[in-house]
Amino acid sequence: GKVEPAINIDFSFEGPFGKFDRAQLQRGFQVYKEVCAACHSMNYVHYRALGEENGPGFTEEEVRAIAAQYEVQDGPDSSGEMFMRPALPSDRFVAPFPNKEAATAANGAYPVDLSLITKARAGFHGTIKQFFEGIGGPEYVYSVLTGYQEPPADAGEGPAGSNYNPYFANGPWIAMAPPLMEGLVEYADGTPATEDQMARDVAAFLAWAAEPTMVERKETGLRVMLFLFILAGLLYASYKKMWKGIA
Ligand code: HEM
Repeated sequence: GKVEPAINIDFSFEGPFGKFDRAQLQRGFQVYKEVCAACHSMNYVHYRALGEENGPGFTEEEVRAIAAQYEVQDGPDSSGEMFMRPALPSDRFVAPFPNKEAATAANGAYPVDLSLITKARAGFHGTIKQFFEGIGGPEYVYSVLTGYQEPPADAGEGPAGSNYNPYFANGPWIAMAPPLMEGLVEYADGTPATEDQMARDVAAFLAWAAEPTMVERKETGLRVMLFLFILAGLLYASYKKMWKGIA
């Protein structure tokens, strides 16, 4: 099918000095929790991660309260029984369906786990130029969420119940109905919940979830560059000194 390259968004976390925007990650989590989590799992993320300094930065108390809204199976207890208990910060995000089969049966197609979606689609339809413009996985997510269109006259018929979205990697027909519409969530911080805003916020949240240590990685990279720069200066100075008057 015909697939469009992703739309460019300037996220705060792009570039060598880029950092996640805490308020944006909190809003993005809210969108995931209230909208996407009805269908999509995030099996690789633990509730405790929501408290990370370079992440959404919820307080310990808030993280506990978020986790406690879900139930997980535990056990066996002393009498050999399995039991349900409220989730703890050490638990993984509770999935909407017990397994892949149930998720597919409910949606007509499998709603992929979103833990690593921004990495899985990072270079999708990417060119070197797009890479240098900072167009990657989060832009892909944003584009899919906002990219629903009336099918052009020559598009033919998609599978029953599918929607036309030329940004979807396996598109242009997608089984996911447009998940966002203006005012769908009421942001805790009062930001107006336009479709564009929610799409940006949840894309940023998913980018953080896929690489929670991004800020540390960039800081390490900058230190390494600084070290190499100083080392190069020292090497040059000692080279000059050793060869002084010889060559
Ligand atoms: C596919 C994100 C809400 C059901 C996708 C894809 C993305 C995505 C990025 C494409 C995956 C790929 O490239 O392989 C989101 C986000 C949501 C959301 C960020 C919340 C804002 C929902 C909801 C449902 C749903 C509420 C169910 C009612 C699906 C299904 C697919 C899909 C079934 C697979 C489509 C296909 O294979 O044709 N979603 N989604 N999604 N989503 Fe969602």
